[in-house]
Amino acid sequence: RILIIDYGSQYSQLIARRVREAGVFCEMYPYDIDTSRIEEFGAKGVILSGGPESVHDENSPKINQALFDLNVPILGICYGMQAMADHFGGKVQASDVQEFGASTIEVTGSSVLLDGIAGEKENRLDVWMSHGDKVVEAPEGFDVIASTPSCPIAVMVNEDKKYYGLQFHPEVTHTLQGDVLLSRFVHQVCECAGSWTPDNIIDMRVEQLKQQIGDKQVLLGLSGGVDSSVVAALLHKAIGDQLTCVFVDNGLLRLHEGDQVMQVFAENMGVKVIRVDAEDRFLTALAGEADPEAKRKIIGKTFIDVFADAARDVSQGSDGKPVEFLAQGTIYPDVIESAKSHQGKAHVIKSHHNVGGLPDDLQFELVEPLRDLFKDEVRKLGIALGLPHKMIYRHPFPGPGLGVRILGEVKKEYADILRQADAIFMQELERSGWYEKTAQAFAVFTPVKSVGVVGDGRRYAWVIALRAVETIDFMTARFAHLPYELIETVSNRIMNEIAEVSRVTYDVSSKPPATIEWE
Ligand code: XMP
Repeated sequence: RILIIDYGSQYSQLIARRVREAGVFCEMYPYDIDTSRIEEFGAKGVILSGGPESVHDENSPKINQALFDLNVPILGICYGMQAMADHFGGKVQASDVQEFGASTIEVTGSSVLLDGIAGEKENRLDVWMSHGDKVVEAPEGFDVIASTPSCPIAVMVNEDKKYYGLQFHPEVTHTLQGDVLLSRFVHQVCECAGSWTPDNIIDMRVEQLKQQIGDKQVLLGLSGGVDSSVVAALLHKAIGDQLTCVFVDNGLLRLHEGDQVMQVFAENMGVKVIRVDAEDRFLTALAGEADPEAKRKIIGKTFIDVFADAARDVSQGSDGKPVEFLAQGTIYPDVIESAKSHQGKAHVIKSHHNVGGLPDDLQFELVEPLRDLFKDEVRKLGIALGLPHKMIYRHPFPGPGLGVRILGEVKKEYADILRQADAIFMQELERSGWYEKTAQAFAVFTPVKSVGVVGDGRRYAWVIALRAVETIDFMTARFAHLPYELIETVSNRIMNEIAEVSRVTYDVSSKPPATIEWE
């Protein structure tokens, strides 16, 4: 396993992802992690990330001596390299000029990290630079083996100690051979085995879950989303009937969604799932409310109430054995985010939005088998566990569901119309291959009536909007440039097949300033 020390670079998470992709387990901790945890971790190698600071700043983060005392290989990237140079008495030059973007290094020396990688282009390697300071004098014992015109020490190595410094960022895809380089570091230099594969992860997790849970009962809020679905499949494999899932149908789900969840888990896999039909409860609670944030609060609170009732029923019904565990689909990016905001002082969990705030009489110990996994790893696990591809690669769906896609007051009549329109849109996206090319797509119900003409008659009916976006991180998004023919097919089908709709529009707003959802 590899220990990654985070000095705050925007790319730090990518280092962890590349190492995992190379089949090696790693964890990332803030630079001020306790020395005792460094010693306990059992690292076979350490990677020091980049960071925004300068080693010349008074309070800039230093490298904990304990990392060197581990006597394992260390790879410093950007700030990590500069801090390492500083630590060993090299010289780092502060500079006002940023070098940012694509660059090409010339490799002039030999190292296990680079040999052969750069060969094809006359010892040149295309890399991604992003730094202000640079090392201008390598410390004693280090050889300089690559440079660019503006950065004379782009790579420095101490092969005896197995210490390596890279001024560029191997973790970003713009560094074309960056994945090979990181893979060499973890495999050849650190001698880690490539055992971090979905099947191995499943075997390990199943063992851990059996240990943790014993013969106790576990409760899981199953939403049908990727994370809770994978948790359900994993727990079912580990503890079978000791798992009870509660699936809350809030009446704001997509067409046939509840049936599909029941089919996959209850019918096909034999998981114990209690389906709570709570449509009336949600719609009654929402009646008369048009404000988006108020609707979100109502839906969240109603969910807790319904889930808590179901949890009490399960507790009483489980053959006298109390339910002691609550499983959650917390994943690694949540954990990293919450650790960051506490500056490494505590490793706190961000409560999953689905089950935060349960009443006091329901106290459970948490089971979080995905806590150290990235989303793409969770997906691979889901596939290896036999969950349907469609479920695992489905677009994200917000917790409040159609509640925020029906503008203003939510009514069953509106939800039924929206479900049909949305299903038609999804069918056509899938048929045309555009579902996978968009990150999120859905229909929106607008409580606006518009005039249309059907045969000889006039139709005064609702307006449906279509939304499709391309995005990686959901923080910014561009509206998807769907082909006109596709939009035409979808709009014709919606107006022909749903009598209550007289008009369809396509949303051409990007985020920012618009958001992805309409509410
Ligand atoms: P916005 O609309 O903020 O959406 O651009 C960004 C992403 O977040 C999802 N989203 C939500 N997810 N509860 C959720 O679980 C919510 O209240 C919520 N609001 C937005 C949205 O679907 C998109 O993927």
